[in-house]
Amino acid sequence: MKIKFRIRRYNPAESEESAPYIQAYTVDVSEGMTVLEALLKIADEQDPTLAFRKSCRSAICGSCAVTINGFSRLACSTQVIPEFKKMGDMVIEPLSNHAALKDLMVDFSPFWKKIEKVTPYLTPKGGSENAAITTAEETAIDSSQKCIMCGCCNSECNALEIDGKYIGPSALAKAWRFVGDVREGNSVKRLERLSEEHGMWDCVRCVHCTQYCPKDVAPLKQIEMLRSAAMAKGILDNPGAKHVEALVESVRKIGRLDEAAMTFKTLGFLRSLGMIPLGFKMQIHGKMPHIHLFSQIEKIDEVKRIYEETGREKEEKKEKKG
Ligand code: SF4
Ligand code: SF4
Ligand code: FES
Repeated sequence: MKIKFRIRRYNPAESEESAPYIQAYTVDVSEGMTVLEALLKIADEQDPTLAFRKSCRSAICGSCAVTINGFSRLACSTQVIPEFKKMGDMVIEPLSNHAALKDLMVDFSPFWKKIEKVTPYLTPKGGSENAAITTAEETAIDSSQKCIMCGCCNSECNALEIDGKYIGPSALAKAWRFVGDVREGNSVKRLERLSEEHGMWDCVRCVHCTQYCPKDVAPLKQIEMLRSAAMAKGILDNPGAKHVEALVESVRKIGRLDEAAMTFKTLGFLRSLGMIPLGFKMQIHGKMPHIHLFSQIEKIDEVKRIYEETGREKEEKKEKKG
């Protein structure tokens, strides 16, 4: 079966004005052939200048991640024919949110700097270095250990697209690997650092990282665990934690979100003033009902009961642990 591959090419070494362009190759594809095998075939038989990364060819090393028909995937674990049948096309581009170096190869140095920022190794409590951990304790950090550093999550991250300084889902998943380890001696310090600007609270919960991770690391889940752990440790003096507290308080009081009050509680008075024009726009578009027209919901008693019940459950859990 002959299938056309449209591949984004880019070679800044050619000239200072080089711009990316699409080049088409027709490949004779056999049953079971992967995108990586098709790229190798193109490089072997048609164009040895085509640049891309690969190593293990078994979805282990993470080096072959590219964008296939708009989504970040491993080239070595994506079969061409099913993909072609589903999408009717084969467009191969470099990962997003990473600067292209040449063709499909991207610059991973910012990725590794972010991983370095989370101190990607255990700094154990005295005496716990060789302590055995239970299966349950290991399960708590198991998902984050599956990461192969492919960068697909960062490539799909909406927060990273807006703010290149955001630490990103891969580094945060790695951070939970150590914060969640019972032998770790610096969890609080780690959580304090992660609560700073460009840290874990900048995630906008779009779920893309979890959706496109090829190893089921579920970075968003790890981010949620980091956030819960930080709040449980009393690290609350930051806009992210304040926003959560304001949200819980708003629902407790009126049964729904009071965006205006939440903004003041999250950002403080002065920074909230700058949000007033946005607030008006949201009201015009029906995204923020006027608080005085639609204050408390009718069945607020039911909401209060949920709070009482969950509060009781929390207390019971604490007592059991104690
Ligand atoms: S859920 Fe958060 S970390 Fe994951 S891709 Fe979306 S914004 Fe990025
Ligand atoms: S979390 Fe998943 S998508 Fe992100 S780098 Fe690790 S393996 Fe790749
Ligand atoms: S070549 Fe190693 S993950 Fe694809």
